[in-house]
Amino acid sequence: MRSLLITNIGELTTHGPQGTVQHAAMVVDEGRVAWIGGAGHLPMTDERLDVEGRAVIPGFVDSHAHLVFAGSRAAEFAARMAGQPYTGGGIRTTVSATRAASDETLRANTARLVGEARRQGTTTLEIKSGYGLTVADEERSLRIAAEFTTETTFLGAHVVPADTDPDEYVRLVCGDMLKAAAPYARWVDVFCERGAFDAEQARTVLRAGIDAGLRARVHANQLAQGPGVQLAVELGAASADHCTHLSDADVKALADSGTVATLLPGAEFSTRSPYPDARALLDAGATVALATDCNPGSSYTTSMPFCIALAVREMRMTPAEALWAATAGGAEALRDNEIGHLSVGARADLAVLDAPSFLHLAYRPGVPLVHTVLRNGEPLCTP
Ligand code: NIG
Ligand code: FE
Repeated sequence: MRSLLITNIGELTTHGPQGTVQHAAMVVDEGRVAWIGGAGHLPMTDERLDVEGRAVIPGFVDSHAHLVFAGSRAAEFAARMAGQPYTGGGIRTTVSATRAASDETLRANTARLVGEARRQGTTTLEIKSGYGLTVADEERSLRIAAEFTTETTFLGAHVVPADTDPDEYVRLVCGDMLKAAAPYARWVDVFCERGAFDAEQARTVLRAGIDAGLRARVHANQLAQGPGVQLAVELGAASADHCTHLSDADVKALADSGTVATLLPGAEFSTRSPYPDARALLDAGATVALATDCNPGSSYTTSMPFCIALAVREMRMTPAEALWAATAGGAEALRDNEIGHLSVGARADLAVLDAPSFLHLAYRPGVPLVHTVLRNGEPLCTP
């Protein structure tokens, strides 16, 4: 791989020892950040990229997305905007459409969403199953997900399929379904919520996944307070996701643990729900990540910049906290210390913004500000 000097960086956010550097330059070698400095005394490299005063940030780490599905729930969204509540009941609509779709359709749908995400600066993407809910359909969802990312998550315990006994379904998830899914999955997840899986069922699923070599993450406390967050902490899950309805004890449990609180403001936006209390979590010392939750029901967006804008405007995160949560926070939620920051030695996953500062991600909401994206130092998207 040829070495690359990126010159004329107006503002470089490293999230590393060098902090934020104005008028910076950076060398990428062998797919990693090899050098960071000012505008003078530039090292010799094979190639140069002049970014003309633009800001450079770590690539976004979207640690929570459901991209393998078919069908649309636009009508459900419209009904919600006319006053219907979100209950998660529409998941079964997507399950029917997903089961009926061919591999080619599911692959093409996933590819389209992955492309969208990349063009908006996402360099790492987690992808869950969870719209198959049979052994064969969960396996193929994960097989397709694994074509796009190594961060694949088995979510067979998304909901209990129609006309199925819940306990029998939990046994299936922990048995044949897990066996079929595990070769393609790094993570195991469960929707721990009234109407989906209770604490005992969720614990059973997560323990089975952990025993099979997967690591845990949990859909927790999305629609109401409940046991999800405490369960995530108890099992040492990498993240508790949603965290929309937290008790003081939940906030404390997250702050005292290594479990990341992953906030998904696209879901509150699209379900017209109250936003999670990011300030309480941050002020208590919890690690906060931001992710899209991209799915056809509760949050049909692939845009991390949109989530940052929501976090700043609606959740009172500072722009710097929101950027950190969307990059380094996501990396912590995926337990990957090579991404989410641009310290020397880190993977050269970055986005060049068509703006002089990262602040514009929230200051200019809805504007496509991502100019160039590099992953492992190689162009992922160019203008
Ligand atoms: O994370 N809450 C569970 N799962 C998804 C929603 C899925 C759907 O409505 O299709 C979520 O929001
Ligand atoms: Fe989700």
